[in-house]
Amino acid sequence: MTPPRIRPRRLRTTPAMRRLVAETRLHPADLVLPMFVREDASEPVPIGSMPGVVQHSMESLARAADEAAHAGIGGVMLFGIPSVRDATGSQATDPDGILNRATERLQREVGDALVVQTDLCLDEFTDHGHCGVLDAAGHVDNDTTLERYADMAVAQANAGSSILGLSGMMDGQVAVVRDALDTAGHTDTAVLAYAAKYSSAFYGPFREAVDSQLQGDRRTYQQDPANRREGLREATLDLAEGADIVMVKPAMSYLDVLSDVAEISDVPVWAYQISGEYAMIEAAASQGWIDRRASILESVLGIRRAGADTVLTYWATEIAGWIK
Ligand code: PBG
Repeated sequence: MTPPRIRPRRLRTTPAMRRLVAETRLHPADLVLPMFVREDASEPVPIGSMPGVVQHSMESLARAADEAAHAGIGGVMLFGIPSVRDATGSQATDPDGILNRATERLQREVGDALVVQTDLCLDEFTDHGHCGVLDAAGHVDNDTTLERYADMAVAQANAGSSILGLSGMMDGQVAVVRDALDTAGHTDTAVLAYAAKYSSAFYGPFREAVDSQLQGDRRTYQQDPANRREGLREATLDLAEGADIVMVKPAMSYLDVLSDVAEISDVPVWAYQISGEYAMIEAAASQGWIDRRASILESVLGIRRAGADTVLTYWATEIAGWIK
């Protein structure tokens, strides 16, 4: 046999060589930490299906955000858990609502070190748990919901949020929010469009994280997992409506969509490694079935490799500590 002339293994011989030729790297600034803050909590409340993640009290939120800032991550994405919910999610637009208060505080305390961002959606604030307002027949009404999003955007920008994460999957939401922000003078507040967001079973633990009241599902507004081309269509629409950043969510089951979007986007492309993805790895690692740290790093690296510039992950602070 003639020995092979071409040997890809040459570039894998030593750790230094592998490091030199690595095509993708993880950097703390490319990570964003999603955080939950609960209005009636005086102590952090553990989330059973997300071991290591908590519903923060205002004080523990501030401490964790400070720790995240010191770890050098790029930003935090805030979710609020109000103690009172109603049909239209009034707490979302109240300047004294938990999410708006938390935003104000973090912007003041850590806003120079990292980018404070907010989830812009109604599901944490409505008593029915849907991402929008319901019509008489009980269906999520797209255009009435847009009016709520416009008000919510202005409230969040007033509170000091730098990037608004539009996760509701209503048609036209990017344009409506952009116009509302500009009219209110918030021309520098950026819009992160959850451009391709799929109706996923992997959101399961998040429902516990925000004490969701949802009965049923979100299939009339979130995308069908069967559709790849539609992900590109949603991203294209959001770009045309003026999105500053587009995101694909979930991440690991949608790497093809992520890669498609990265191919066409002229703005940053992000991906959200969601609650169920976190829970799966934690659960398997706690059984000793996979190496926890190696699996976490590989999962986030894979999401970056598929095309994400930045990854939202519940491990952001911990990963930053490892790779710093
Ligand atoms: C909507 C929103 C959800 C998540 C982020 N923003 C829930 C949903 O769409 O059902 C899920 C995040 C996760 O599962 O980690 N407010």
